[in-house]
Amino acid sequence: MKLFVTGGAGFIGSNFILYWMKTHPEDQIVNFDKLTYAGNLENLKEVEKNPNYSFIRGDICDVLRVESAMQGVDVVVHFAAESHVDRSIMEPSSFVMTNVVGTQVLLDGALKNNIKRFHHVSTDEVFGQLPLDSNEKFDESSLYDPRSPYSASKAASDHLVRAYYHTFGLPITITNCSNNFGPYQFPEKIIALAITNVIEDKKIPIYGDGLYVRDWLYVEDHCRGIDMVLGKGKVGETYCLGGLTEDINNLEVAKKILRLLGKSEDHVSFVKDRPGHDRRYAIDWTKSKKELGWEPLHSFDEWLALTVKWYQKNKDWWRKVKSGEYKNYYKKQYGD
Ligand code: NAD
Ligand code: DAU
Repeated sequence: MKLFVTGGAGFIGSNFILYWMKTHPEDQIVNFDKLTYAGNLENLKEVEKNPNYSFIRGDICDVLRVESAMQGVDVVVHFAAESHVDRSIMEPSSFVMTNVVGTQVLLDGALKNNIKRFHHVSTDEVFGQLPLDSNEKFDESSLYDPRSPYSASKAASDHLVRAYYHTFGLPITITNCSNNFGPYQFPEKIIALAITNVIEDKKIPIYGDGLYVRDWLYVEDHCRGIDMVLGKGKVGETYCLGGLTEDINNLEVAKKILRLLGKSEDHVSFVKDRPGHDRRYAIDWTKSKKELGWEPLHSFDEWLALTVKWYQKNKDWWRKVKSGEYKNYYKKQYGD
């Protein structure tokens, strides 16, 4: 089988390629990535010489390049996106371009090339927010209510993917998953940012009151979930994937990281809140368990401890990432 992976040099895409080449070594992978600030080919050093792996630098908005790169492909797994909410508040236009227009270009390319499956990787943020201190969770029937330019652009892309299924019969599947964490995450997202800041003896910036809740999914559990959707998922269907956390807020996550790194709680700094900050996310992944047999392999605490160890062992990787453009972004977002 030949897979066309978009955004394969980013956090989840590169973890997916490493996972897939280990578990399905007979398959071929084409990694199509623009290499924005978030794309990093160092994540893929382990596989770069594998004859079943190839890389094409390209923009998913580039119609001709997408059409020709997709020739002979069986399955598309679409990760490429502008993915960071705070950047979407600073500059929404690239989010609309890549996440909406880019997805539509890929869908056309998939139709022209008779792709057997187009899998779209989406987010729980399309469903909006849940109230604190409630038992409500998002599931596949939740209504769409995106509240940031990022989540609005992802919602639009989900609608386009479903439209191509209903109108043109393109064989699609979608996953809407919660916050990922693990190796190779760009340190703009809170867990990678917090761990690396604390190792550098800097503070963890916590937005607002810190009582915002996220549902945490380890990236390898996510990759296994996509594998199971590709293998057993029904065409036209959506599957929600989430973690094993029970309403843990950002402040608690920060404290867990500080404990794992042997640092005091003074390493937390409360900073200006994010505009339109979604209060709480929680995912009900019963359908994925029932229909695919999927569930996370370990608890949040176990995966977090492994993640902290990875960042302790791979300082060269993130120190390089945290230089250059990252410093400008950090200053713009957090001040001095
Ligand atoms: P990321 O920002 O780490 O990586 C995105 C990748 O896409 C980068 O390699 C980048 O170079 C590439 N890219 C960006 N614009 C492109 C373009 N126009 N053409 C080609 N390539 C382009 O993102 P991530 O965290 O790995 O997220 C991957 C996908 O998963 C995204 O679609 C995101 O919406 C979704 N998702 C992420 C999370 C999360 O917690 N990180 C959770 C749910 C869903
Ligand atoms: O829910 C899935 C989504 O998770 C994905 O679709 C997005 O691509 C991904 O970026 C992530 O979005 P969040 O906005 O939830 O992730 P982030 O790591 O930016 O923030 C997690 C929580 O931590 C959120 O409540 C905001 C808070 N936060 C974040 C940063 C960067 C802070 O308190 N301080 C920070 O410095």
